[in-house]
Parts: sequence; C-alpha cells; structure tokens
Amino acid sequence: MSHNLRDVKIYFFMALDFEIIKKEALEAIEKAGDLAYLEETFKKYLGKKGKIAEAFESFGDLALEEKKELGIKINQIKKELENIYFQKERELKDILIKQKVGQGSADILLPGIKPEIGHLHPITKVKREAEEIFKSMGFEIAQGPEVETEWYNFDALNIPDWHPARDMWDTFWLRQSELKMKNEKIKTEGKLLLRTHTSPVQIRYMEKHQPPIKIIAPGRVFRYEATDASHEMQFYQIEGLMVAENISVANFKAIIQAFFQKFFDDKNIKIRLRPSYFPFTEPSFEIDVSKPDGTWMELAGAGMVHPSVLKAGKIDANKYTGFAFGMGLDRLAMIKYKINDIRLFYQNDLRFLNQF
Ligand code: PHE
Repeated sequence: MSHNLRDVKIYFFMALDFEIIKKEALEAIEKAGDLAYLEETFKKYLGKKGKIAEAFESFGDLALEEKKELGIKINQIKKELENIYFQKERELKDILIKQKVGQGSADILLPGIKPEIGHLHPITKVKREAEEIFKSMGFEIAQGPEVETEWYNFDALNIPDWHPARDMWDTFWLRQSELKMKNEKIKTEGKLLLRTHTSPVQIRYMEKHQPPIKIIAPGRVFRYEATDASHEMQFYQIEGLMVAENISVANFKAIIQAFFQKFFDDKNIKIRLRPSYFPFTEPSFEIDVSKPDGTWMELAGAGMVHPSVLKAGKIDANKYTGFAFGMGLDRLAMIKYKINDIRLFYQNDLRFLNQF
C-alpha cells in the first residue's frame, strides 16, 4: 500500500498531539491531592468527552493504514494512564483511611458484622440423618417423580379404582383434558396426580432391578386434606423396600428397631407391630415405638410386600419375598425437636427456622 504524504504528515502531528496530552494527563494525576480532583482529571482526559476521545474523533478522514496505527497508539496511552490513575486512587484512599483511623472516627476494635449464613431446614436435617442410618445398613437411595400416574400410585400397588382403600389417600388429581391429548402414556398408566405416598417408587425401582433389593425412597407427598396441627397438604415420607429370598417379618423388625435406636440415640427403644391394613402389604402392620414414659407412639406403616405388587414390579413372587415400610419424616422431626404443629415447617418463619 502506498502512503499518501498528507496522511503521513497528519499521522505524525496527531501522534505528537497524543504524546502531549499524555504528558499533561500524567502530570495532573501525579499532582492530584484528593479523590475529587483525581476524578475530575480522569473525566478531563479519559472520560467520554475527554481530550483523548476528542482527539480520536478528529482523525476521521485519515487513510486506513495510519488510522490503525493511531488507534493502537491511543489504546496504549489509555491503558497506561488508567493504570496510573487506579494506582493513585488506591494511594489516596489509603491515606483517607489512615487519617480516619488516626482521628479515632473509626473504631478498629469494633467487632465486624458477620454475614448471615444459611443452614439446613429441620426436615432436610432429619431426612439426611435417616438416609445416613439406612445407608450404614446397606440401603440405597431411590427416587421417583412427584407427579405420578394413577398406575404407579394406585393400581400397581394393588389399589384398583373400585377399591374402597383408595379413600385412604385423598388425592390431588391434575387436570386431564389437555394432558390426555399430549401424553400417550396416560392411556396405559391412567390419569396424572400428585403422589399421595412414596410407595410408587417401590414399583418404579422393581421394574428396573431384580432382587436382592434394599432401598429407601425419601420424598415429598401430597394429600387433598384440610390442614391442622398434625396434617399438611404436603409432607415428607421415607419409604423402605427390601426384597430377596427368605425375607421375613423378623428381618424387618430387626432393621426398623436398629433404625429407631440410632435415630433417637437410645439403645433401650422397643418396637411393637400392630395388625393393620394396606392393600400393598400382607400382612400389614402399624409400627409403634416405645417412649421413655412407657407409652407408645405410632411412627410408620409396614408389611410384607403383597405378591400382586411384586408381580406389578416384574418380580417372581414364588421365589422372592420382601417387606416395605413408610413413615412420615415430618413426624420424626416433630418428635426429635419437640414441635407440636406440622404447619410450622412450611411457613418459612425465620423466628422458627433459626432455632435449628
Ligand atoms: N404408603 C403408606 C402410606 O402412605 C405407608 C406404607 C408404606 C405402608 C409401605 C406399608 C408399606 O400410608
């Protein structure tokens, strides 16, 4: 590319101009005795309407080659000036702080303001504790969706829609009309709902795994119920399932007793099984846990997995047996922390939560 003499000349003059501006700016920064003056200086030279920007605009009609060169030069100068500016700013700020401390206007012995650090919700704590105890006994953690199908929440658990036991679980059904169009699965798995218990995870896990199975499934469940001190529309359960050859009620009793002894940190805790009814277990029990005062508290439902449920989970009911249990995590937390109203867990009142 040939250089046009006019442009080369302009280039040199302008380069010289920038050197002069730079020198001026350096002196001004150096001279600055306070932050306000420094700021002014910055604006005057480096600001949007400062001398550098102004000079930059004046070489609009310069040939490309020279324009490029000048651009590079200006950026270098800008960087240099900025570095010096920031250095000076730090110096002036340091002086200011030293002055303030010297005058005693800052009490350097005053304790700092601690940032607030969050912590775990009591339900999360109890959930993790329970998980740790079961893990130490060889259980794995399984999960399932909170939006379930009728099949997993009910039918596969031996609760067909004509079964009176369905009334045990007041259900939030999801609006079906639009969903039906979109979801092919609904034809085979039934309507969608918010799971009313964690038991559907039993089926989902069995479908994908053959025995030996040893899982727990903690998670949130929903019931279409009026709330009061011991009922919420949403709460947490922890499900357990163990399936293998020759599993008996004795295995279950030993495991659940060990769990409660560890959870309440009390070796004297006893377990009592009372006959009960669930469609997905046979026989079924309620599990009572002894209290120090000799009374009992009901803490879980359980039983031997019903053969129809094993079948729904694609497991050979002639070869394998198992037990399942389900308990309320909120209940456990209420007992552990002596809380008498389940609704407190879901109100997000910091005066309550900060106590944990
Ligand atoms: N799913 C039952 C409930 O929510 C509890 C349960 C789980 C009972 C497993 C037996 C076996 O009430």
